[in-house]
This record gives sequence, C-alpha cells and structure tokens, in this order.
Amino acid sequence: MEVTKKSYSSSANLGPGYDILSLGHKAFFDSVTVKHNNSNGVKIISNSTPEEPDKNTAGLSILKIMEDKGIKTGLDITIKKGVPIGLGLGSSGASSSAAVRSVNELLDLGMGKDEMVYYSMYGEIAACGSAHPDNVSSGIYGGLTLISSTSPVKVKKIDINYNFNLVLVIPDISMKNKTRYARSIVPQSIKMEEHIVHTSRISTMLYGFMKGDRDAIREGMNDDIVERSREAMFPFYRDIKEKVINRNAVSACISGAGPTMLIFADDKTRKDEMLGDIKNVMGSYNTDYSIRETGILEGLD
Ligand code: HSE
Repeated sequence: MEVTKKSYSSSANLGPGYDILSLGHKAFFDSVTVKHNNSNGVKIISNSTPEEPDKNTAGLSILKIMEDKGIKTGLDITIKKGVPIGLGLGSSGASSSAAVRSVNELLDLGMGKDEMVYYSMYGEIAACGSAHPDNVSSGIYGGLTLISSTSPVKVKKIDINYNFNLVLVIPDISMKNKTRYARSIVPQSIKMEEHIVHTSRISTMLYGFMKGDRDAIREGMNDDIVERSREAMFPFYRDIKEKVINRNAVSACISGAGPTMLIFADDKTRKDEMLGDIKNVMGSYNTDYSIRETGILEGLD
C-alpha cells in the first residue's frame, strides 16, 4: 500500500503577519508518496531536494514523528517537486506537509491538523535552521491560516469573503540560504509605537478579509518592520507595490522571505496596465521574472 498527497504553494506573512499568517494558493504543488520498505529507516527519493533524510524537510518531519511515536518501520518517501525552491513560495513546507499527511494516513496515526502542522514545521529546520509554522499551516489546512499559538501549535482558519485574483510576480533570482539570511536580518526588538501600529494593521487586514472590505485590506497590508528590513534583497518591491496600487490592485506584499511578490487584484484592477508597469519596473532593475495568475486554495486533496 502507498499513499500520495499533494501540498500547494503558499505566501507567508502577508505584510504585517510575520511568522503567523499564510495563504495557500493553487499556483504550484508538490506531491509526496509514502510506502513501506524492508529496512528500518527512512529513504528519500527525490531529484531536486537532498536525499539525506535529516537534511530534507519532509525527511526531518517524518524522522521526528517516528522518534516521538516509537515507530520502527522502514519508509520510502518519494518527493515530486512542483513548487519552485527558494522563491518565497513555501516550497520546503509543501514537501513536509504533504509527507506528514501521507504518513498520517499510511500508518493510521490519527493525528489532527494542528499536530500535523507541528511535525511539518519541524521540517523547516532542515531548510533554514528554524521551525516556523506559517507556510506549513496552509499546507495542512488550505486557505488563509493564522497561527494562534506556537507552543502548543494551534491554527485558526480565517474565512475570506472577497473574490480575489492572485498575481504572483516571481523574479528569476535565487540565493543560497536565502530564508536563513532573510531571517537573520529581521530586527530582534521593536519600539512600542511600532508594535501598536503593526497590531492595528494586522487586525485591520484580517477584518478586511473577513468582511470583504478592500479598503481595510489595503490599509492593513503594510509592514515597516520585516519587509523594510529585507528590502535591499528586493529593491524593485516598493516600486512594484506603488505601481500596482496606482492601477487599483487591492494591495501587494512580499511572499514569505521573497523575492516573489503577491498581488491581490480584483475586477476593479486595471490589470493589463498593471502588467505593463510591472514589466517596466522589472526591466529597469534588469531582473527577469515570470507571472503566475492563480486563486486561493480552499481545500486539500
Ligand atoms: N515567515 C517566514 C519568513 C516565511 O518570512 O521568514 C519563510 O519561510
């Protein structure tokens, strides 16, 4: 018997929600198949991720499950990558969450969603040295997810009551150890005034998603702490954001640790002009890119 599960790309943070918000979308997916083998260990079969289980996000998650639950069986884990690596699209979390969901079913472990988020997030250590649950939460739940607690891990799925088109602008730049670096330059302390401004923005943005209030989403989707600290990595971002808002997109943010930018567009957005502006800005920074139009991932198969 074998079990295959797909997990999709996602955009973490959404501006002010560093490490606590994530949006699953249908742009790309990984598919992970798990089956028994005759050994006592975990074997990774992949053509684009490390094959040492403890260096692989899916492998590390499964090793942790086996250790915690005293599971001795041998498992083959075959990873087919569809989510591009290193572009801020939740690639590492897609593999680990698909692997955890597959193992949960194959071994009939009966783990609930939050427990699966916990084990999937463990895999992020292999990717960037720290276990953060945002991307993997949408890999387990789909949709827009909020981390309400990290210890123990608890996730809330937020209803979105607005009809978005998502436009991903994916610069053709990848950097070794990008997420690790991007996390290392985030400020470790902030002033109380900044804390107040950003809690107001997150709350306003979530209010906007739930009420379908585009002005509130635009008002809230701004970050002057994490996005600002990383701006040197994506010098085109502020220009792009200004231009897409001028063309009446709802808003835009950096997707995860970048460089991809996520634009929330709707039927009021002058899309063709917006795409022309993006072309001009990216050209002026001499940066190749691709565009992927997609929708929000509602459920998981
Ligand atoms: N919240 C994470 C970050 C997402 O911005 O570093 C990337 O894994």
